[in-house]
Amino acid sequence: MKIGVFDSGLGGLVIAKALMQALPQYDYIYYGDTEHVPYGEKTPGRILAYTLDAMRFLINQKCGLIIIACNTATAITLRYLQKRFCPKEAQNVKILGVIIPTVEEALKKGEKRIGVVGTPTTIRSDIYGVELRKISPQVEVVSLATPRLVPAIEANDFTEAKRAINEYAQTFQNLPALILGCTHYPLVKDLFQEALPETRLVCQDDLMGKKLADYLKRHTEIETNLSRKATRQFFVSKMSKSYTQVAQKLFPDIQLEKK
Ligand code: DGL
Repeated sequence: MKIGVFDSGLGGLVIAKALMQALPQYDYIYYGDTEHVPYGEKTPGRILAYTLDAMRFLINQKCGLIIIACNTATAITLRYLQKRFCPKEAQNVKILGVIIPTVEEALKKGEKRIGVVGTPTTIRSDIYGVELRKISPQVEVVSLATPRLVPAIEANDFTEAKRAINEYAQTFQNLPALILGCTHYPLVKDLFQEALPETRLVCQDDLMGKKLADYLKRHTEIETNLSRKATRQFFVSKMSKSYTQVAQKLFPDIQLEKK
């Protein structure tokens, strides 16, 4: 059994890299739905349909553990996948998202006010607010959709990203902690930190490797089934030269394959 990592596009490579660095021995398959990215402003029905397609693909590729790196897909589909899809179609497969590990990390220091940024769909779902308050009912959550960031990062336009972040940061002045709830935001965490120097940033590339390692220690029934030849395969739903260039920034020798 391999570990599958799914994202709406290539932003999730940041998370895949973090997982591979923390747990290099396992076999990984990455799948980015570059044909349909971005998910952040699509309807829940479409996001579910694309994510189901991705799960079936990764399961066919022998993934027994799948991490949904995409916050938007996690927000909209994870519950359905765990409660309906797996019991019906994939009893031996475990699907995990990024939101619960992020919430646990965010609450670690006991701060009483926590900010969240993400795509419009993630923020509209209020998944972070719901999960944060489940564990810590007193916590005040300040959420903001930050739709200018994914297009700016995808276009490699860090001047626009900085401008947008400086504007968005006004909402979070004096907030002790901020969750960067989107695959792409680790790539601009320095810009967030510059705009909010006193704020503790909760970044998924920093936490997911450690969280998955902890999870596998607790779930030896899954861990013992994972193959360990340290192979990596990267699939996309649509190929393009610029996708390869983006992916090469994180994995210089990457070979993208068409799904
Ligand atoms: N992967 C998405 C997320 O983490 C961001 C990109 C998109 O909108 O598809 O929410």
